[in-house]
Amino acid sequence: MRAIVQDEYGSAAEDVLRLEEAVARPTIGEDEVLLRVAAASVDRGTWHIMAGLPYPIRLAGFGLRAPKPLNPGRSVAGTVAAVGPAVTGFAVGDEVYGTCEGSFAQYAGAHPGKLAGRPADLSFAQAAAMPISGTTALQAVRDQGRVESGQHVLVVGASGGVGTFAVQIAKAYGATVTGVCSAGKADLVRSLGADHVIDYAQDDFTRGDQRYDVIVDTGGNRRLSDLRRALTPRGRLVLVGGETGGRLLGGSERSIRALALSPLVRQKLATFIASENAADLVVLRELAEAGHITPAVDRTYPLAETAAAITRMQDGRARGKLVVSV
Ligand SMILES: NC(=O)c1ccc[n+]([C@@H]2O[C@H](COP(=O)([O-])OP(=O)(O)OC[C@H]3O[C@@H](n4cnc5c(N)ncnc54)[C@H](OP(=O)(O)O)[C@@H]3O)[C@@H](O)[C@H]2O)c1
Repeated sequence: MRAIVQDEYGSAAEDVLRLEEAVARPTIGEDEVLLRVAAASVDRGTWHIMAGLPYPIRLAGFGLRAPKPLNPGRSVAGTVAAVGPAVTGFAVGDEVYGTCEGSFAQYAGAHPGKLAGRPADLSFAQAAAMPISGTTALQAVRDQGRVESGQHVLVVGASGGVGTFAVQIAKAYGATVTGVCSAGKADLVRSLGADHVIDYAQDDFTRGDQRYDVIVDTGGNRRLSDLRRALTPRGRLVLVGGETGGRLLGGSERSIRALALSPLVRQKLATFIASENAADLVVLRELAEAGHITPAVDRTYPLAETAAAITRMQDGRARGKLVVSV
């Protein structure tokens, strides 16, 4: 099969990812399915897995000295090409989406517990954009933020992979949504349904009069005290992430402080690691099929240009999601 291959960790996609034309197809276990990949997508985690940074990611099963997966692709949409004998619920020919290892390839092995049927009316490329970013946004808005109809929600990083889904999901839950992003992407965030858009280079949302019931923070790494100032007295702050470049903790210092402080204050300061699971893929599919979410796909690249997609994301140029068509 054709596949992107990575042998060593590195931070520049062009240096460490290469296309090979004759890679052995993955073998699947009894409880796995083999996917014929149609599309895969890029997210910040793709870069972290590729770079092996921050270092704790290497302890999370991705390989201590060198990457274990064939390539750093994880989000996927495609067709079931084979099923292990212990698999129930999926059959050859099913069109699915979800997460797996090594999705920048023509074939990838996947666990049924991380797959669901592809949403009707979404292309493979759109479906491939959803699994990691959409699931993270869903868990941020629904589980951590507990967003309810009528609430005011602020999404910091509204033009990003997670943020573009968070805006739409919060709107679907009946919230009034304000998105924070750069000026050049304000139109995108408005088109997703945001009621208000704040350009972080012009306005400081932590200094205004508006207080938010829920803040979903995916970018900018604002101080906890600043974010708390923009929250209502019993508001919920959901720290999803933010790139600091830190090699050791990668920004998790702020999350650790939030967890320590949360029991001592009336506001809820939450952080979480998204769980990849089929049930939430079904919820996302239902939201998509009901017209509440449409993945914001910025560009689709051929497999050979996977590195260019990762570089565009890393440079902060992506408007929403970047997809690799296989
Ligand atoms: N907790 C989890 O399980 C989990 C899961 C997925 C991702 N994450 C983390 O969540 C973060 C976001 O991921 P992503 O894939 O959505 O990244 P992304 O696509 O690169 O989006 C980043 C967003 O941050 C915005 N931003 C940049 N600088 C900012 C600033 N100074 N103030 C406010 N916003 C700013 C960007 O806006 P512009 O592009 O308009 O400048 C963009 O909307 C990453 O750190 C990622 O590692 C965590």
